[in-house]
Amino acid sequence: MTTGARFVVTGGAGFIGSTLVRTLLKRGSVVVIDNLLTGKEANLQEVRGQIEFHNVDIRHAAALEPVIRGADTVFHLAAIPSVPRSIEDPVPSHEVNIDGTFNVLRAAAQGGVRRVVYAASSSGYGDTEVLPKTETMAPLPKSPYAVQKLLGEYYASVFHSCYGLEAVSLRFFNVYGPRQDPTSPYSGVLSLFMKHLLERASPTIFGDGEQSRDFTYVEDVAELCWKASQASGVAGKMYNAGNGNQYTLNRIWKLLQEMEGVDLPARHGPVRGGDVRHSQADTAAAIRDLGHSPRVTIEEGLRRTLEWYRQMEKKAE
Ligand code: UD1
Repeated sequence: MTTGARFVVTGGAGFIGSTLVRTLLKRGSVVVIDNLLTGKEANLQEVRGQIEFHNVDIRHAAALEPVIRGADTVFHLAAIPSVPRSIEDPVPSHEVNIDGTFNVLRAAAQGGVRRVVYAASSSGYGDTEVLPKTETMAPLPKSPYAVQKLLGEYYASVFHSCYGLEAVSLRFFNVYGPRQDPTSPYSGVLSLFMKHLLERASPTIFGDGEQSRDFTYVEDVAELCWKASQASGVAGKMYNAGNGNQYTLNRIWKLLQEMEGVDLPARHGPVRGGDVRHSQADTAAAIRDLGHSPRVTIEEGLRRTLEWYRQMEKKAE
């Protein structure tokens, strides 16, 4: 890396993006692109004076280009997340996740950017017969969101082969941690669990709760994004960004209740459309090629995250 490098983070005011911004500030100057649709300026509070912020929608190519031009690396995390949201309201997520990603890649290729790290999704695998899920498995998307994120990977790879852009895709596996917004019906399940736990309320689990996820702590993901921006021989490729573990929702909810010493049986609702049953990353390729080294265990990650939500509640009082 060259000192004084300029990094652009699309979606930098979001939950994962704002954690990445903090990681990057140790390594160079940081420019954030975010339209504050799901991101929040509050996520950047104590680092706001150290970054350059652009309120730009990635659907707006002309506004993106001057901001991206000449950057060392673009970390492309801006997206409309959520599987159910993409089913209920598919047009915005299609436009942002596919057209927006194309705009970012094109601006990077035309603007002389050295590398793009793209936030892809484990949802691209769909329901595989074998676990853990390895990068060589055929994708089986089950939702518009999964298709959109997969298409971004294909575009990233083609921008490498056709235009020489060093683009690397990371399939994020159910990221959790501080600053994940628990207030939307489309919020990640762990943020909703935390909120319910602190309010001493029962969460709703869709289905029997025996579906499993490879919950990955946000700082481990941010560190992997950094490593993917520096590794050699990885352009045009895709890697799993997971922990390698598998926890059912029932087990996580039990762990959380034990941590707080409460007994709050979950309610159950119908299985959500587009839901993947089991998810677990094979991390071997990311360890080998990117130096991936996830450090935060689920117990430690849940403890840190719960503490953060508790502090937020205290501040709000
Ligand atoms: C999916 C992707 C993930 C991606 C994310 C973006 C998979 C395996 N994972 O996450 O990589 O980053 O989309 O949004 O496809 N649930 C409840 N109660 C709730 C909310 C959710 O039981 O109140 C259940 C869901 O039905 C699901 C699990 O919790 O089985 C996780 O849901 P969620 O946190 O929304 O993430 P995924 O859809 O798994």
